[in-house]
Amino acid sequence: MKARLAFLSVLPACLLVLALWPRTSPASAGPETIVSATLSAAATMPLGLQDKKATFTYVGSKKCKMCHLAVYKSWAKTKMGQAFNTLKPGNAKESKQKFKIDVNKDFTKDEKCIKCHTVGYGKPGGYAIPDPKNKKSVRKAKKLQGVGCEDCHGPGSAYVKLHKEIMQSKRKYTDKEMYAAGMKKIDKSTCLTCHNSESPTINPGEPFDYEKRKDQGIHEHKPLKQREE
Ligand code: HEC
Ligand code: HEC
Ligand code: HEC
Ligand code: HEC
Repeated sequence: MKARLAFLSVLPACLLVLALWPRTSPASAGPETIVSATLSAAATMPLGLQDKKATFTYVGSKKCKMCHLAVYKSWAKTKMGQAFNTLKPGNAKESKQKFKIDVNKDFTKDEKCIKCHTVGYGKPGGYAIPDPKNKKSVRKAKKLQGVGCEDCHGPGSAYVKLHKEIMQSKRKYTDKEMYAAGMKKIDKSTCLTCHNSESPTINPGEPFDYEKRKDQGIHEHKPLKQREE
């Protein structure tokens, strides 16, 4: 059984060698090329499996509040923190009129809107349209309204525990540790998952200016004391 498994795990690498062998002339691809190709194919396999095993889920911005109070408070006031309210009838009148969106319509259950106005819609543990008769689902949905911390920083189920441990032990940590626990490195592409032309209120002629938007205010910033350089 074990031997068979071992054979299966090297099978893709063998196939790769076969696929490369006849077509590459010895001058253009020496044995080193083929060896390094099989090595890299083998090296990526366990990593891929690891990714599959770890499913990080969304916990909601309130879970971050007790330790990141100033950040939380400043975020809650922003348009992103309030993004769910925008979908309620009567709110954000001017923008809705400007973009010919029905001001009196309720968009809070519209899949075409909530995917960018909630936390992790459609992903494991992310926002789901609640069943009004199911109190638990209503409570859970409330925690995931608006554009929350995890929309940018990644689903928190594992890294919240890591942050707690860091806080209690007062030890140094590295960004690698954070990423392994589900945190995301933030860059322009993070924002573009929502700030794109699928949004009915975006001016397609105006490209997303990352630095400017960041400075416009996502939340307050505090220096990190425990992170290793
Ligand atoms: C999950 C979707 C999502 C992601 C990811 C996202 N945004 Fe937003 N953003 C929104 C929505 C929705 C609004 C509008 C909220 C409203 O007014 O209802 C918004 C509004 C804003 C605003 C406020 C604009 C104003 O007029 O005041 C800024 C600034 C902003 N986003 C910057 C960013 C930056 C920078 C990033 C990436 C680091 C980012 N956003 C990532 C969905 C997102
Ligand atoms: C692809 C993501 C995405 C989708 C889908 C989306 N939005 Fe938004 N929405 C945004 C972003 C991003 C902003 C902020 C625009 C900006 O500041 O550049 C925004 C802003 C708005 C605003 C302006 C709010 C304000 O503060 O003035 C309204 C109104 C709005 N959206 C309504 C809707 C409605 C209604 C739907 C569904 C029909 C919808 N959105 C679907 C991403 C989206
Ligand atoms: C729209 C995206 C976005 C949202 C929403 C968001 N953040 Fe951030 N956050 C950033 C960016 C960008 C940085 C700057 C560092 C970086 O580029 O990774 C940052 C940095 C941080 C830092 C590092 C220290 C600092 O102050 O710079 C903490 C802690 C943090 N965020 C916590 C939170 C918490 C808690 C929430 C929710 C209450 C939240 N963030 C919501 C984008 C976001
Ligand atoms: C039990 C307390 C606690 C909770 C809960 C918590 N954090 Fe943290 N977090 C910390 C501590 C402590 C640090 C390290 C601060 C430092 O280095 O000064 C940290 C660091 C961070 C950083 C910076 C990471 C880096 O190196 O770039 C971000 C971003 C962050 N937290 C976001 C969040 C988000 C989002 C949540 C909720 C989903 C959350 N935290 C929940 C205590 C906590």
